[in-house]
Amino acid sequence: MTSGELRQNYLNFFKTKGHAVITSASLIPENDPTVLFTTAGMHPLVPYLMGTAHPVGRRLTSAQKCLRTDDIDEVGDAKHHTFFEMMGNWSFGDYFKTDSIKWSWEFLTSPQWLNLDKNRLAVSVFKGDADAPFDQESYDLWLSLGVDAKRIAKLPKKNNWWGPAGLTGPCGPDTEIFYFAGDAKNVPVGFNDDSELWVEIWNNVFMEYNKQGGGHFEPLVQKNVDTGLGLERTIAVLNGFDDNYQTDLFSNLITKVEELSGHKYNENEETKKAMRVISDHIKAATFLIGDDRGLTPSNTDQGYIIRRLIRRAIRYGRQLGIKQNLWTKEIALVVIKDYGQVYPELIRNKNFILDNLDKEEEKFDRTLEKGLLEFKKITGKEISGAEAFMLYQSYGFPLEITEELAKENKMSVDRAGFEAELKKHQDLSRTAAAGKFKGGLADGGEETTKLHTAAHLMIAALRKVLGEHVTQKGSNITPERLRLDFSHPEKMTPEQIAQVEALVNDAISHDWPVVMTEMSLNEAKERGAMGVFDSKYGEKVKVYTIADYSKEICGGPHVTHTGALGHFKIQKEEASSSGVRRIKAVLE
Ligand code: ALA
Repeated sequence: MTSGELRQNYLNFFKTKGHAVITSASLIPENDPTVLFTTAGMHPLVPYLMGTAHPVGRRLTSAQKCLRTDDIDEVGDAKHHTFFEMMGNWSFGDYFKTDSIKWSWEFLTSPQWLNLDKNRLAVSVFKGDADAPFDQESYDLWLSLGVDAKRIAKLPKKNNWWGPAGLTGPCGPDTEIFYFAGDAKNVPVGFNDDSELWVEIWNNVFMEYNKQGGGHFEPLVQKNVDTGLGLERTIAVLNGFDDNYQTDLFSNLITKVEELSGHKYNENEETKKAMRVISDHIKAATFLIGDDRGLTPSNTDQGYIIRRLIRRAIRYGRQLGIKQNLWTKEIALVVIKDYGQVYPELIRNKNFILDNLDKEEEKFDRTLEKGLLEFKKITGKEISGAEAFMLYQSYGFPLEITEELAKENKMSVDRAGFEAELKKHQDLSRTAAAGKFKGGLADGGEETTKLHTAAHLMIAALRKVLGEHVTQKGSNITPERLRLDFSHPEKMTPEQIAQVEALVNDAISHDWPVVMTEMSLNEAKERGAMGVFDSKYGEKVKVYTIADYSKEICGGPHVTHTGALGHFKIQKEEASSSGVRRIKAVLE
């Protein structure tokens, strides 16, 4: 089966079950400032899971483009990707567990659809804890479909719970479906969720709870279904590949890298790794630049991720000995050809994609070679903050590339030292004439970084002044101002606005440090961090803490001390949509 067939079959199947097919939402979330990218099919659908009526009905299905950066450093092995597609079907207060499970089983095993061998399937269900009971209903449903009890694992929240997409919001137990990727003649009787041979292909989430700020779970206004089937890994196991990069979602890309480099994918582990990184990263960059929201490489936020993706790919291209100038667009052209039918924005934005790849490649090419020579000169076991900063500033090496080079050479990098250098430099550049420094560090990035931190202070102040019901609904930050949407039912009074300003300015005057710690999602939640997330339990998230004042899960970047912000002022408070207010604020 081809990936195109799987994608189409999935949508067709759910069409026969009364679902409307919706097109993929943007990769850049519209209503969700605390994550940089759309990371699951449900992400753009949160308002409808919460009860807002969706214009096309209560049953939807889609192929959603997604991007997860948590494992970006792992890309290079057989399984990890940044960009991927998630097939999904949703019920907003319509069908629930019975139909969801029955239809998943039918799609996977019916001769009319995927016709998978039932003997190669296993499932897991939520085993229950203090927040929610054992999912007996799903368990019984699987039994009734003929799944052997030995193939039904009962697992804790860490495995079988999904969401919320914010620290508060829709969530619930899930049931996951696994396919045995090992030898079909030797399928074990029981299911072992630790074995790599059992590959999770589909997750059915039963969102019946709304997680409240205080950490307790209340029944949602409606019971929803949210499912996700990862296209890359599913098409790989269905075709008997233990390497996702051998599927048709990557094969044309790999062939192109082979042509450009004169090497073969299968030559050795190094060529494999390099070709995987290049095809994944340039594919992701193509989708990000080719999104209708048009992102370009820069030094902040999403733009910085694009820069990292392209530069890391270029470095691996150099390692493979690609000689041609401006070659990344050759890969992008294959992406556009392979995906343009399904994601026509790639065709619409083709020139923009190619131009931006050329520009970024030109920039990095000028310095990469010299930077690598400089890197070689560094002696000792640890690369100092100053050295890492020199590579960043003068040779355009994202810190992560320096870290990767260091790892390859059995060295480490003083990350904190690098960050201190960066801070020092930013303080300097505040007084220096624009453009004086190489590498375009300022880039307006400094102002937006400050406004990001101001947004954290403001949302905390709003919660203090207006109440705990306030959650962030969206934000948009330019170097000039910040705009933030938040839930609140009525117009703020002039007194409330003044109180919020005073609280934020008070926090600024304390010059509190802004501390970033990485921790598991569970831990972040236990510590009461706010913010939107939709990574799975167990994945690491960044938490930014400002004294006792604010604790947010956030991708950053932020200033290191609140004192850097200056004076905070709210310029406007107005309605955004029903139940949502909008504030525009500046730092002066
Ligand atoms: N939202 C669920 C997931 O991403 C389906 O696994």
